[in-house]
Amino acid sequence: MNQSKLHELINEMTIEEKAAQMSQVVSSLINENSGKGKITGPFAGMEVAKEDMSGSGSILGAAGADDLRALQKEYMERSRFSIPLLFMADVIHGYKTVFPVPLALGCTWDPEAVEESAAIAAEEAAAAGLHVTFSPMVDLVRDPRWGRVMESTGEDPYLNGVFARAFVRGYQGDDLEGDSTKLAACVKHFAAYGAPEGGRDYNTVDMSERQLREYYLPAYEAALDEGAELVMTAFNTVAGIPATSNKWLMRDVLRKEMGFDGILISDWGAVQEAIPHGVAADNKEAARKTVEAGVDIEMMTPCYVQHLKTLVQENVVSEALLDEAVLRILKLKQKLGLFDNPYRGADRELQEAVTLSEANRKAARETAAKSCVLLKNNGALPLQKDQRVALIGPFAESRDLMGPWSIFGSEDDVVTVRTGVSEKLSSAPNVAQGCDIEAVTYDQVQEAVEMASDADVIVLALGEHSEMSGEAGSRTDIRLPEAQLQLVAELKKLGKPIVTVLFNGRPLDLHGVIEESDSVLEAWYPGTEGGRAVADLLFGDTNPSGKLTMSFPYNVGQVPVYYNSFNTGRPKDQIAPEDRFASKYLDAPNEPLFPFGYGLSYTSFDYSNLQLSSGVIKENGKIQVSVDVTNTGTAAGEETVQLYVRDLVGEVVRPVKELKGFRKVQLKPGETGQVVFEVDEQVLKYHHSDLTFACDPGEFIVSVGPDSRNTEERRFSYQPAGQRG
Ligand code: BGC
Repeated sequence: MNQSKLHELINEMTIEEKAAQMSQVVSSLINENSGKGKITGPFAGMEVAKEDMSGSGSILGAAGADDLRALQKEYMERSRFSIPLLFMADVIHGYKTVFPVPLALGCTWDPEAVEESAAIAAEEAAAAGLHVTFSPMVDLVRDPRWGRVMESTGEDPYLNGVFARAFVRGYQGDDLEGDSTKLAACVKHFAAYGAPEGGRDYNTVDMSERQLREYYLPAYEAALDEGAELVMTAFNTVAGIPATSNKWLMRDVLRKEMGFDGILISDWGAVQEAIPHGVAADNKEAARKTVEAGVDIEMMTPCYVQHLKTLVQENVVSEALLDEAVLRILKLKQKLGLFDNPYRGADRELQEAVTLSEANRKAARETAAKSCVLLKNNGALPLQKDQRVALIGPFAESRDLMGPWSIFGSEDDVVTVRTGVSEKLSSAPNVAQGCDIEAVTYDQVQEAVEMASDADVIVLALGEHSEMSGEAGSRTDIRLPEAQLQLVAELKKLGKPIVTVLFNGRPLDLHGVIEESDSVLEAWYPGTEGGRAVADLLFGDTNPSGKLTMSFPYNVGQVPVYYNSFNTGRPKDQIAPEDRFASKYLDAPNEPLFPFGYGLSYTSFDYSNLQLSSGVIKENGKIQVSVDVTNTGTAAGEETVQLYVRDLVGEVVRPVKELKGFRKVQLKPGETGQVVFEVDEQVLKYHHSDLTFACDPGEFIVSVGPDSRNTEERRFSYQPAGQRG
């Protein structure tokens, strides 16, 4: 169907039919028999009735080739113009083969691996009948109290942009129209959902427009530049107006400036939430404000279906606004080939063949191993395969390794740490739970102590259960639960080496664990093959290479703490120690416990010979920054070399460091590799006070190193024409 046919179709549609295209519900609401439709938000009291929603042009949350084919068939039969349904769902980090949570994927610093994970997710989900995934979430995060940090790739705008592109490429490929193994990607949550006050989910977001543009918008821009077909609105306010009904944000910034012409969908119930936010008196006003803001699809509330018709009839809303939205929706249906084949990729046999295939599991295992971060190692790792290992803790045999956002993954398919570790050892490990996630009994501890007593090394598998992070999973205390800290303290008394493996969805305050452990491996929620990936690392079959993309605070009182901060007017290291009046805490360091970019390996890397090709960048010019990296240890390993820039004097205050590039190098013991970066004007640009994006002449620092704290620096200057050096 060509564009003019789509226009003809829209001309024939009634306002009710248009409003139905602009509404979305979970499948279970309109057809109890097919598609189970996972509920991922509030439901009671939202007045979502089957009679209103049965014509909805898209459905969320359900999957499965047979179920979705049946749903499509039934819908097409009762659709006046045979307009096919769009099936959307949250396939966030894998469909059935679950990859590590996005925060962990970020720690791979490996966009190719992330792209592959998204391609595998798309392949499995498309065979199960899905068309759109509500991913990637590219919200920048700085506050680990917010449970959804696990769904972000971290605190850096540049890196988030790199990963946003990788996700979109993986899902959509380069031929969404012709390739039915691909999904359309929906980037979310526009905008700044990652900055709720106090880290409390759905809470107020308020920041300067400059900050929004500088840190929060770039990753959405990158995803759109890569061709993401949809955008989802955020729940929060932006400049005092809920994002979902924020005309400036959606029409001026997203549509006009960023040039987005795809489908804009609200988040779950977010249209109606204009009422509790206090910017709409009722559903009708919420519908008006949201459609005026340019939101094409209302998810899960009935404001559009109930009121768009009256709003048009009363001449409050122009029908052209509806036509514009419906055109975008039909265009995507057309692009996905649904008018020609409404069943697209949904194919039970293909679904069985690709889902959880050996190749997909292998990719999940390798990516999970890349995503774990070795935080501490005093030599207890790697383990030897003939050691007597006591595997203790609530995650020793837990299948809760997929995290809070894997709605299609099954725990039955998860490989536990016990299985992974047992596969490596010549004799089976002693295993005890030691405690529950949030409770402990005397007997549990006794059993753990007994199991540990005749072991050479204790491997402690600790963490948060998956409901402790994710959506609506905010916490004010981000330590491990007291029960687990008690277990650590008891086992410590045995005087044996302790290796702790952490499973969690946020950077934690590691008091009570970090000092007590000889080695600590951050495993996040590593997914379906998590147990094997962790074992590969524990036994040194794979050398850890993950690096943090979100700072681990020293304690929660420092939050938000992030590497690309400002120097302040009274930096602690520039004020005499005897002088009180510095920007500091009286009871904690300023620095996080583990900074952005940090992660250890079983080998060591030495940086030397940092050189600039010139000390000056001219207009339209660039310089090369080179460094030699040597593997000085005894194991082959991979290092992620990071490049940061600082503008020493800006028109507005500039961060003390900003990541501008990174390179991975694989080095054998004794081997040296040279890493070369280019720094050009583009890298030096930032948003000025009048919001122009430009760079200024003057002095800069470039620094290179293994993480954002340990870097070596050189100076250069930027001298455009007409400036004296
Ligand atoms: C979440 C979105 C998600 C949607 C649909 C909402 O509660 O905020 O990220 O895509 O539910 O499941």
